[in-house]
Amino acid sequence: MHMTPNARAFDDWIRDRFVDINSELEELYFAQADRNVIPAEGEALRQELLESGHVHVSRLLAEGNTDEGFEAAFDLLGNLGMFMAACRRHGLSDPAQAQNSPLQAASALALHLGASLGVTPRFATSHLTTHNPARDGIYKRFTRLEAERVFFDYNTRGILAYKRAADALVRILPMGISHPAVLQLLDDTAAALVDVQRSNEALFAALDVDRFFYCVRPYLKPYRVGPHVYRGANAGDFAGINEIDLLLGLCRADHPEYSQLLVDKFLYMLPEDQQRLRDCMRRRSLLDALLDAAPEAADRPWFQAVVARYLEVCARHGETATQHHDQLVRRFIELPAQTLPEDAQGDVTASGPPLSVLLPALERLRDLRRAAPRDDIPTRHRELAQLRATLQPPAQVG
Ligand code: HEM
Repeated sequence: MHMTPNARAFDDWIRDRFVDINSELEELYFAQADRNVIPAEGEALRQELLESGHVHVSRLLAEGNTDEGFEAAFDLLGNLGMFMAACRRHGLSDPAQAQNSPLQAASALALHLGASLGVTPRFATSHLTTHNPARDGIYKRFTRLEAERVFFDYNTRGILAYKRAADALVRILPMGISHPAVLQLLDDTAAALVDVQRSNEALFAALDVDRFFYCVRPYLKPYRVGPHVYRGANAGDFAGINEIDLLLGLCRADHPEYSQLLVDKFLYMLPEDQQRLRDCMRRRSLLDALLDAAPEAADRPWFQAVVARYLEVCARHGETATQHHDQLVRRFIELPAQTLPEDAQGDVTASGPPLSVLLPALERLRDLRRAAPRDDIPTRHRELAQLRATLQPPAQVG
């Protein structure tokens, strides 16, 4: 990737001194009795962060758009976003306190970059995971904390595995459900979802709860760019998870709550992901295709084989969603949040709404994905049962 000297200098700073400053501040905060408070101590480090960042940003703003291509501009937006998120984390900006971001030069540059790239003007999850260029084995991070490395290592693995699952499913579309290769593609999808499960299990076991909650999560909060507040990044900001939802037919693009979620996340995804998701929203799901074919084809060997594998894939997708909600969200967000004083409780999510609003919404998503028997949301529980009923017991051998 080609960078101008100013962009390179900023990138060097983000990879080095910026990480030192954040790491030192995290140690100071973590050593306090109330880890949720930003103490007076550390002010010199915070001012260094603010001033050094501002020097880099001002040079880049003066340089203007030098058209180094999408990758370079997107990478610069990520660096800028990391700087703005760190300022937010250390209380140098606070969307609740001011109507406009105090980081005016950074906001101007971020808005220019975001609008020209067709993405949100803040850092997104891909900046920290799938599009985070490593140098000599190290990708960009806020701190040198082990918990942060573990969190982003496994977020990256989980996202890549979900993308593998989505890639396999999408390939079914041009072939039709009765094509013999569909069996292979459904097996590939299920295997990729098992990889998600394994990666989530490893994350669950390896991540330090307190370090994550107090020292990593705060970098993912919402912040202002210019006058608007942009919600924080979460590992779900890629198209693959929703491609799986829609292609399996477990979630539907005409369900207002679900499509609202898609509308809200479009600009948090790379343009190529936006395109893929838009395309999926127009497609017919495998579930609908199988239900339509059932009256005529239920006895055919291809139908029996496809339905068995399709149900297996749905089961795996439901399990990864359950694992995310009942294990990861519960252990690393919900339980530690209960120890916070009441006035700090509203401030723990990446998207902004308080946990009491976010958790039921995440629960509804989980239940759509596992086709749970619920009448208040359009789960496909009945349709999956209908398909299951078409399965014939395997022929007895011998
Ligand atoms: C410690 C680990 C994790 C925690 C505590 C966690 C927590 C959360 C929370 C709280 C949200 C809601 C966004 C918000 O804060 O407003 C969310 C969204 C999401 N996360 Fe995670 N997450 C973790 C890891 C992962 C991993 C490894 C994946 C796999 C790729 C993942 C996939 C998603 C998805 C897809 C969403 C968007 C909502 C959805 O479609 O379900 N998360 N996560």
